[in-house]
Amino acid sequence: MAAADADIIEGLRGAGLIDDGEVVLEPLTGGVSCDVWKVATPSGPIVVKRPLPQLRVAAEWLAPVERGISEVRWLRRARGVDPRLAPEVLAELADYSFAMRFLPGCPVWKDELMAGRVDAAFAAQVGQGIAAIHAATAHNETDRAAFPNDAMFRALRVDPFLLYVAQHDAALAPALTALADDLTSRKIALVHGDVSPKNILVSTGGPVFLDAECAVYGDPAFDLAFCTTHLLLKAVWSGEARLGDAAAALVAAYRAGIDWEGADDLLLRAGQLTAALLLARVEGKSPAPYLTDPDHKNIVRDQARALIGAPQPIDTLVAHWKRT
Ligand SMILES: Nc1ncnc2c1ncn2[C@@H]1O[C@H](COP(=O)(O)OP(=O)(O)O)[C@@H](O)[C@H]1O
Ligand SMILES: [Mg+2]
Repeated sequence: MAAADADIIEGLRGAGLIDDGEVVLEPLTGGVSCDVWKVATPSGPIVVKRPLPQLRVAAEWLAPVERGISEVRWLRRARGVDPRLAPEVLAELADYSFAMRFLPGCPVWKDELMAGRVDAAFAAQVGQGIAAIHAATAHNETDRAAFPNDAMFRALRVDPFLLYVAQHDAALAPALTALADDLTSRKIALVHGDVSPKNILVSTGGPVFLDAECAVYGDPAFDLAFCTTHLLLKAVWSGEARLGDAAAALVAAYRAGIDWEGADDLLLRAGQLTAALLLARVEGKSPAPYLTDPDHKNIVRDQARALIGAPQPIDTLVAHWKRT
């Protein structure tokens, strides 16, 4: 066993989560930025998450290890809004690691979508859940002070998703740079920063949001755009009309929860961000791994470029999105 793993076990013992018996750290799949293990304990399975100093992706995205702190804070804050929305944090351990309760029998939403199990009602619950967290934290000085993570959000989201494409495309650079500036300047609500179907568990009580390492006090339109982007990309990948319907259901449910600013303004910002994120997923530093077919990439690229030039509110964008 590596020394670091021994540290984790010692930390779990210190927190009273495990006893002196044998402990097995079972790696959970999926992570590029963390070690994530499932650990059996006398009071049921838990998850231990330890941020890696450097992300396991091709490009060298250096991210401060402090993102573990933001994640724990986000999970606790989201549970304060509604305990069904996030797993319970059980202990904070050394090196920004933490333990949370494992949710048994809850598939990852991405796996459900990729297997063709597309449930618009669940997508609506996702929209409702994100909006509830935004509404609860909007214009709140305490939340703003608790998530001063602008540098991290810039390194993990603004640079790779917006500015990287701008640097490689002179025609779109002015629009994308302006969008990046607008995104960084807005301080409206607590943003999760990685609302992707791979970070949402499907539980009987609705969606459970994981992986809030990029959490920042910023523009809530980002979360809506980020999640919608994933559904639109998957719609092109599968050709499934139901994925477009799910995106529309998500946006409609989110819209119904906006009570902190004018909905029209937010939906337009979300539409602009969605266009940029769609393009980033075919031309940026973090391409969607399943979108390998050149025809699929062209369908996304052509629509995204047109939308960056002539922005539409996200509900209109979703309604007009072409899968072929
Ligand atoms: N509390 C939990 N209950 C059940 N499964 C979990 C839990 N936390 C994480 N997982 C599983 O581990 C995977 C990786 O966790 P995540 O927090 O997304 O880490 P990473 O930053 O490495 O992506 C998730 O996609 C999910 O399958
Ligand atoms: Mg994840």
